[in-house]
Amino acid sequence: MRIVILGAPGVGKGTQGDRLAERCGIPKFATGDILREAVRNDTPLGREAKRYMDEGELVPDAVVLDLVRDALGSPSAHGFILDGFPRTVTQAEGLQALLAEHGIELNAVLYLDAPEQELIRRVAGRRVCVACGAVYNVSLDPSAAGEVCEQCGGRLETREDDEAGTVRNRLRVYRESTAPLLQWYANSPTPFYELEAVGSVDDVYRRLLTVVDCS
Ligand code: AP5
Repeated sequence: MRIVILGAPGVGKGTQGDRLAERCGIPKFATGDILREAVRNDTPLGREAKRYMDEGELVPDAVVLDLVRDALGSPSAHGFILDGFPRTVTQAEGLQALLAEHGIELNAVLYLDAPEQELIRRVAGRRVCVACGAVYNVSLDPSAAGEVCEQCGGRLETREDDEAGTVRNRLRVYRESTAPLLQWYANSPTPFYELEAVGSVDDVYRRLLTVVDCS
């Protein structure tokens, strides 16, 4: 399976992508995670990306396309899930060209949709484990271990770009730069599924499994 998960900040792309990757036994590549790791490691890519991420702006297309090309390696060898990429029509065209080099195509684009109020509520409550990257939500999906990660005991912290002002800008950037991709994919031959991402994590996952079959 070669799948793209699209949707606004906080809609649950990472949460659902992790579940699906585990079920299908394929890797998930999240450009946001890769960029945050580069920032933590203070690499040249991380230093360049940080100034965009801190403002809630998109990292330039050329930088992200290089990063995805490296991360995917030889995409024909296995399936994959892309979370948070592509995010612009230019990125989608770049992905299409990259896959065409390997003679393959996407199997599905899954668009997760939820009202903006719910996105803001989810992002405001998000906490991430500094040690293993597990994601929780203080009000909607808390760690069973309370203030620390239930998987590894690591400290939980708020993502820097989840500050309210940055989130407002991320939502604006999403509407302006990423939302046009929905029509682009809807007009393409790639199977495009629009899924309501409201309700619990389990509810959304069940909906997703009605369109993805990796058995
Ligand atoms: P990125 O990390 O991709 O951020 P995003 O797209 O804004 O998405 P989020 O990670 O905020 O949300 P999500 O949809 O994964 O939700 P999650 O599952 O965590 O990108 C960050 C930055 O990197 C960008 O702003 C940009 O600067 C740069 N970047 C990344 N990719 C780029 C690209 N391709 N091009 C250019 N720049 C790029 O869930 C959110 C919260 O809600 C969690 O707390 C979770 O526990 C909870 N939750 C999830 N589902 C549910 C549910 N059903 N019910 C209740 N709670 C739920």
